[in-house]
Amino acid sequence: MKILITGGAGYIGSHTLVELCSAGYEFIVYDNLSNSSKEALNRVEKIIGKSVEFVEGDIRDKKLLQEVFANNNIDSVIHFAGLKAVGESVEKPLEYYDNNVNGTVALLEVMKEYNCKKIVFSSSATVYGDPKEVPITEDAQTGIGITNPYGRSKYFIEEILKDLYISDKSWKIAILRYFNPIGAHESGLIGEDPEGIPNNLMPYISQVAVGKLKELQVFGDDYDTVDGTGVRDYIHVVDLANAHVKAVEYLNNLTLNIQNLPLICNLGTGKGYSVLEIVKAFKSASGADVPYKIVARRDGDIAICYANPTKANELLNWKAKRDIEQMCKDSWNWQSKNPRGYNNDIFA
Ligand code: NAD
Ligand code: UFG
Repeated sequence: MKILITGGAGYIGSHTLVELCSAGYEFIVYDNLSNSSKEALNRVEKIIGKSVEFVEGDIRDKKLLQEVFANNNIDSVIHFAGLKAVGESVEKPLEYYDNNVNGTVALLEVMKEYNCKKIVFSSSATVYGDPKEVPITEDAQTGIGITNPYGRSKYFIEEILKDLYISDKSWKIAILRYFNPIGAHESGLIGEDPEGIPNNLMPYISQVAVGKLKELQVFGDDYDTVDGTGVRDYIHVVDLANAHVKAVEYLNNLTLNIQNLPLICNLGTGKGYSVLEIVKAFKSASGADVPYKIVARRDGDIAICYANPTKANELLNWKAKRDIEQMCKDSWNWQSKNPRGYNNDIFA
């Protein structure tokens, strides 16, 4: 029995491969490498000490997916594949809806054809829009106030998955709403490798610290928060990866206890940190300087977003273990060992 990992060469996917392997699962990676490199999988192989089965392909390519299902005994899918750049999604909405929504529908159709009905889906806290209250619980309203096509693609896919379950209760579906994943595997072999100038805070800070970028722009210091800068729930990517192992276990162990399906869980630590708190924690973990300047708010940003992760704690028997110091330390370890990301040969 194998798990198909779509988007497994990406940031969260590659870390999940390592955790799945240590939990004894077999898997096959399916990725079109549109936002990742084969080198990430080579690095995973170094960490786990065995080869990773990989098919280069697009989730919209049903023919290739059918071949993969026909030739492998695939029992479940962890579905990471998707485009995720918020700004780009505003420029290219059709590309985002095609890739993320149509891609997911194609995947689900092929799964159905091969009677594989277990799926763990990468959703996002973005589905909550601008939350009415924090910490956010899973029953908070979704779909309202989402500011971009990327976020809406996640919301639409969640709705599609819920409709699919209504139509056929034999589907076992877990929807995981990630908050802000940062950090890297402790080896420094794998980590986040954004293309071009990073949009997200932690890769931007790391690239300033390593000297690739001049200074961090802090988007607004007039929010109603502890120091006026935006507050988010940062979660270590290895903790996030572990939650996927737990979600697969949960779906595998379901008997008649179906009242929690589709399973919808927030994955966060439950703590919020401001931009300036992150800068401070990063400086102390790395010893590097992070010059910054305060600039205007970024369009579409919200003031505060952090999770109530109790449901995942209870139902998945999972808890984020790594604190903000560890997250910063591991981000720095990855960045300083790989200043050019995977285009780097020090591990070759
Ligand atoms: P990533 O870009 O590093 O990984 C996504 C992977 O999917 C990449 O390897 C990419 O090549 C692949 N991919 C994209 N479109 C594909 C397609 N049509 N067919 C096959 N492969 C395709 O992103 P990540 O940070 O690892 O995120 C993984 C998932 O989690 C995404 O769905 C993302 O939207 C979601 N998510 C990420 C965050 C975050 O902050 N990183 C937060 C919430 C949700
Ligand atoms: N920030 C800066 N400067 C930067 C980048 C970010 O000040 O250069 C600030 C933002 O204004 C925000 C915080 O740092 O207050 C975090 O910003 P990120 O871009 O790292 O993360 P977001 O919370 O805005 O968005 C992320 C993902 C989205 C996802 C969302 C919720 O990028 O895809 O979390 O899960 F939808």
